[in-house]
Amino acid sequence: MASFTEMARERTLLDEPDIRHLRRLVRSWGLLADLSFSDLLLFVPTSDDDGSFTVLGHVRPSTWQTMYRADPVGQVFRPSERPLVRKSYHHGTVENGELSLKLTFDELVKIESIPIRGPGGIIGVMTSESQVKTDRPNSELERTYNHTYHRFADMIRRGEFPYLYQEEGRFRAPRIGDGTVVLDASLRVDFASPNAVSAFHRLGVHRNLFGLSFPSLGIAADEITKAYQEQRPVISELDHGRETTVVVHFLPVIDDGETTGGLLVLRDISDLRRRDRLLLSKEATIREIHHRVKNNLQTISSLLRIQSRRVDSPEAKAALGESVRRIASIALVHETLSQDTGEDHDTGDDVLLVDLIKPLVRMVEESLVLPGQSIRISVEGDAGIVPSEVAMPLSVVTTELLQNTADHAFQVGGEATLENQVVVTLSRDDEVMSMTVEDNGVGLPDGFDLEQSGLGLTIVQTFVRDELGGEIQMASAGGPQGRKGNRVSLKIPIPGRRVSDR
Ligand SMILES: Nc1ncnc2c1ncn2[C@@H]1O[C@H](COP(=O)(O)OP(=O)(O)OP(=O)(O)O)[C@@H](O)[C@H]1O
Ligand SMILES: [Mg+2]
Repeated sequence: MASFTEMARERTLLDEPDIRHLRRLVRSWGLLADLSFSDLLLFVPTSDDDGSFTVLGHVRPSTWQTMYRADPVGQVFRPSERPLVRKSYHHGTVENGELSLKLTFDELVKIESIPIRGPGGIIGVMTSESQVKTDRPNSELERTYNHTYHRFADMIRRGEFPYLYQEEGRFRAPRIGDGTVVLDASLRVDFASPNAVSAFHRLGVHRNLFGLSFPSLGIAADEITKAYQEQRPVISELDHGRETTVVVHFLPVIDDGETTGGLLVLRDISDLRRRDRLLLSKEATIREIHHRVKNNLQTISSLLRIQSRRVDSPEAKAALGESVRRIASIALVHETLSQDTGEDHDTGDDVLLVDLIKPLVRMVEESLVLPGQSIRISVEGDAGIVPSEVAMPLSVVTTELLQNTADHAFQVGGEATLENQVVVTLSRDDEVMSMTVEDNGVGLPDGFDLEQSGLGLTIVQTFVRDELGGEIQMASAGGPQGRKGNRVSLKIPIPGRRVSDR
């Protein structure tokens, strides 16, 4: 469906400032629908020069039932079908009447139409539409809301509502049902709904509110007084102790340039807030843990390095060196997990796999390759996000496989012209991620048996099969110039997650 602005541009003759005015109106009129207990519709003349009107906007009340089950936006009416709208538009007057409309059934609808004044004069009409007969109690609350609605309707007629300045808050603006306070011209409380009284209790105000000067309560006093003086709305979050947070939306009532009062709508968001705070601290804690694990692993790694300097046997030196690199690859995962990605993953514990593989590749290129040997390692494709339970073993596996290419694939057969290449390919298909590590080296030795290999491939198999429940295959990849090459293919199930999680 077309956006509000697109529809206004295509179907009406409104210019941009007028469109902006109406867009501000439909962004903030939910409150008015609630106050008037009725559906609100926005009518604007079509560009067809035949007096017809189109409906550019509609909002249902959350305080009462709607008249419109179907969406009326986009409908076009001939002037005779909507006489009140036509009259309001052409004479700039507020019109009241009843009209039989074919909605769900044929229904008699009570309609009030208000001309909307924008920068270019009268630019449209807003109607409030409700059932003629209602069993709605005519309580003080309803009378107050209706009266308040009409003060805003007058502002619309004079071009004083919507406000030029648009308020914004982190949470959805409160609605009338959340709690409403009506303030008079000197910011004294004229009316407070039961929900508003409860919200004030939670903010520590237990006095009878009626007649009290709002700023004297000390609740966002400065902000609201300032907004009142500057004739603009404001949304403010108020904390009371550590437990209670209330959002307050203040809307000044303006009468021909004079502020004559205000509306305060309050919402207790303590629960939302508490959940936010918990999530935040949980994520921060997880990151901190990863950071510490990484530091500990680095300590172990340097201890082993010191030890390897003290032993004489080349085998012992090599073994300790291997351990140092295995630990380094695990530390790298924790380092990645300890960084704030700034993205909204479900938990702080998922990693983008390429983010992990790339630093591993760099590590192998920088430290594991023998002097005089050059290998180009590239990473292709993407396997999306994986949980850390997968990332951890997978990074060890990747390091082992890359190390093997450096150790075995390119040592013999020194064709100087041929570039030594390793390609890591990642892909993801529904719930299975695949990774291949392919080299163009000498290939596996004759009689090679995966089940009876060294420690490296044993680690790889244990992690892939037992830890990750996946599969592993090794075969000649068919390298150039008589080289056999080697390809290791891994398939690892990632239950309940898809590439689109990214
Ligand atoms: N990419 C490769 N190209 C050629 N041969 C390979 C390749 N990868 C592994 N191999 C062969 O498989 C054998 C077993 O590898 P594995 O990683 O299990 O042990 P390793 O590398 O010899 O010792 P380590 O325990 O240090 O890893 C190697 O010795 C080598 O012969
Ligand atoms: Mg190895």
